[in-house]
Amino acid sequence: MINESVFENFPQLESERLIFREIKVSDAADIQFIRSNDQVMSYMERPKHLSKNDSEIFILKKKEAYRNKKGIYWAIIEKSTEEFIGDFAFGNIIKENARAEIGYTLKPQFWGKGYMKETMVSLINFGFNDLKLHSFEADVNPENENSKKALIKMGFKKEAYFRENLFFNGEFFDSEVYSLLERDFIYHKKSTNKL
Ligand SMILES: CC(C)(COP(=O)(O)OP(=O)(O)OC[C@H]1O[C@@H](n2cnc3c(N)ncnc32)[C@H](O)[C@@H]1OP(=O)(O)O)[C@@H](O)C(=O)NCCC(=O)NCCS
Repeated sequence: MINESVFENFPQLESERLIFREIKVSDAADIQFIRSNDQVMSYMERPKHLSKNDSEIFILKKKEAYRNKKGIYWAIIEKSTEEFIGDFAFGNIIKENARAEIGYTLKPQFWGKGYMKETMVSLINFGFNDLKLHSFEADVNPENENSKKALIKMGFKKEAYFRENLFFNGEFFDSEVYSLLERDFIYHKKSTNKL
């Protein structure tokens, strides 16, 4: 149902200010910076990366998911500085349902510039136009206002509120599920920019 040819050559893409390229093991220091940063991790309910090795293992798992056609994990690069500024993932791709879950981060110094909006517009268009997905899902901590704003801007709709369904670090957390059908997508374009 989905277009599996996307898994033959990694889909490197670009937008006006950004490049979306395949993650590499040599990106481990940037991934560790992001995934050990208090501001980034405050609503993530994921273990912090305590060493570069944690990040290398994380990256290898993302590459394996791509080989298994279960995920696509992009590094986000700022064109003007060539800096690694964040990441964006299609995870848990279920081909029978033509559905993927998204996850994303930006280094805090790159918040408030519209970079996640630009990323979402490009990569969600790729998801619908090229990978031929039918819908996306995002699971969010209800207190993560920046993330919810980014999703709502795209047309994502809140579908569920789960009370204390997530146990992390000795605490139960609430979570919200947002989803986007192709026909909801506000920034739908006919084609995706490829490098
Ligand atoms: C979620 C996250 C990626 C959102 O980043 P962000 O920078 O707030 O999102 P955007 O790129 O959409 O930028 C939006 C802001 O940039 C501003 N902006 C500045 N220049 C802009 C431009 N050229 N175009 C669009 N927006 C622009 C917008 O006005 C908006 O600010 P506002 O929210 O005060 O109105 C970021 O907060 C993050 O990394 N959080 C930690 C990780 C995380 O929680 N991930 C999600 C887990 S579910």
